[in-house]
Amino acid sequence: MLVFLGYMGSGKSFVGQVISEMIGFEFVDLDSYIELKEEMNISEIFQKHGVIYFRKRENFYLKELIDADRNIILSLGGGTPCYYNNMELLLNKSFIKTFYLDAGIKTLVKRLWNDKKNRPIISGINDEDELLEFIGKHLFERRPFYQQANYKIAVDDKSPRQIANEIISTLF
Ligand code: S3P
Repeated sequence: MLVFLGYMGSGKSFVGQVISEMIGFEFVDLDSYIELKEEMNISEIFQKHGVIYFRKRENFYLKELIDADRNIILSLGGGTPCYYNNMELLLNKSFIKTFYLDAGIKTLVKRLWNDKKNRPIISGINDEDELLEFIGKHLFERRPFYQQANYKIAVDDKSPRQIANEIISTLF
């Protein structure tokens, strides 16, 4: 099982899908899995039940997927590694390889500014400088969790295919 983690906008789902096509493992996006199981989109879950409920369900579904012990490619949500014992759960299983897709702040701002409406954590930010400051602080808090991944892959200025090849080369 290959697990991709990193900040929102780092390309976890996109790269995960590219690799899934290359090596034939099924692709699962944790956010989409949660949406399917909860029959609500992420923004609705945040709105109706709040962030604590979301984090609890996220932890529950992550465990469900790990326990199923299937050969899948899993992309996590940006916050998943930072709550409960989620990172420990992933690191304690020898059949799981974790990859941190490390994108710089400028890359993230560029990608997220035009795509923030479905991301409740940043959807209320209406100024690009404010987004830059928010991501800078947030990444500083989250990086210690992301850095625990088995592999760190720098993604700035690389094509999805380049990133995918770099990841695949770690498998052999
Ligand atoms: C979150 C990231 C989102 C989603 C939720 C919370 C976060 O996932 O899980 O909106 O805390 O960073 P993506 O990283 O896939 O956008």
